[in-house]
Amino acid sequence: MRILVVGSGGREHALCWALAASPLCAKLFCAPGNAGIAAEAQCVDIAADDLDGLVRFAAAEKIDFVVVGPEAPLVAGLVDRLTAAGIKAFGPSMAAARLEGSKGFMKDFCARHAIPTAAYKRFSERDAARAYASAHALPVVVKADGLAAGKGVVVVQTHDEALAAIDDAMQARRFGAAGAELVIEEFLEGAEASFFALCDGTNAVALAAAQDHKRVGDGDTGPNTGGMGAYSPTPLVDAAMEARIMQEIVMPTLRGMAAEGAPFKGVLFAGLMIGKAGPRLIEFNVRFGDPECQTLLARLKSDLLPALLAASDGTLDRLTLRWDARAALCVVMAANGYPDTPQKGTEIRGLDAAAGVPDAYVFHAGTRQDGDKIVANGGRVLGIVGLGTDAAAAQRTAYAAVDKLDWPGGFCRRDIGWQVVGNK
Ligand code: AMP
Ligand code: GLY
Repeated sequence: MRILVVGSGGREHALCWALAASPLCAKLFCAPGNAGIAAEAQCVDIAADDLDGLVRFAAAEKIDFVVVGPEAPLVAGLVDRLTAAGIKAFGPSMAAARLEGSKGFMKDFCARHAIPTAAYKRFSERDAARAYASAHALPVVVKADGLAAGKGVVVVQTHDEALAAIDDAMQARRFGAAGAELVIEEFLEGAEASFFALCDGTNAVALAAAQDHKRVGDGDTGPNTGGMGAYSPTPLVDAAMEARIMQEIVMPTLRGMAAEGAPFKGVLFAGLMIGKAGPRLIEFNVRFGDPECQTLLARLKSDLLPALLAASDGTLDRLTLRWDARAALCVVMAANGYPDTPQKGTEIRGLDAAAGVPDAYVFHAGTRQDGDKIVANGGRVLGIVGLGTDAAAAQRTAYAAVDKLDWPGGFCRRDIGWQVVGNK
């Protein structure tokens, strides 16, 4: 098959790595890709949000299957456009992608289908939002309705901070149109986990759970990021908890979306708060998490391609997946200055030495080839995955590989996995 992966991050490098290994894959393209992806796929210079360009390329190159990595093209309707052009794709339709594209839609949907989530109210008027937030118990959570690259959520401890967050979104328009509407919701207590399920509109297959590290600094300090590291599996989600998540959250979502005429296909990523009462949904994403994907795919022993095809074809009821029993842990290397002002263009050395560490994988997230050098070209630049018999061993492998890198222009957290292995 001729396959096109859309995106340019660490998630897409892991997807390309897994798809390139499939005997069913004859030719792999990635748009736009990065310097690491170029080792697995032919990179083509089309941006992930250039829907016209992607559809034109897929048609011209007779692509059999398109795998969409990031949320923006899904929410903008890339899968609908490809389907209309007769090209098979992995990922939800525009209507189904509203589960991530509009937090208000997602909350109302959960209310309609009794899916456990935080109590909330939607606002499109600033004064009404201010009045509601002023009277709300603390802490309270203020969320921009639309896609805001992970920056649209503020958990606030005081009413003044809540008012500032509302003004920021609705008056200063910090998130543009994505913040014209807000969701204000109850703060959930518990431990966070990311849960992934493959869905074909009707059936779902649980993938695995992982734990992300959102803050930039050791000890979960500093600003939120796209994710500084992850590990999988997590003791928060044992077999009993997985069964509850499937039964209480994933399957009602699939049934509800189908009943509402927008069957969900692709990977459903549930951001969960696991507390005393069980799993509650913080948010849905309609794609693999980054860097969670890197840990999941390092553990997946089955061929990824037939699994993604089955999600698109509606045949997941016949799919079983095999997993490596070992743990995987991913450490993200970011450019100095990330997340606010990442420094671009610094040279990264030692990549081969890092990849040479047994059971370590180096995934590129934001790199560019500059002559014979690899240079940083983004905020999150590399994801180094280690496998090990348990999380502690996986952590040792990942940091052994990190320590082979020679990149003064970048940094990482040294405590990925602290919840299960303590600080390194
Ligand atoms: P999101 O972008 O929706 O994943 O939110 C970013 C982060 O904000 C989450 O990973 C949680 O740590 C936190 N968060 C969001 N909503 C809530 C909530 N209702 N209660 C507690 N924490 C939340
Ligand atoms: N790591 C969280 C995300 O991909 O949204």
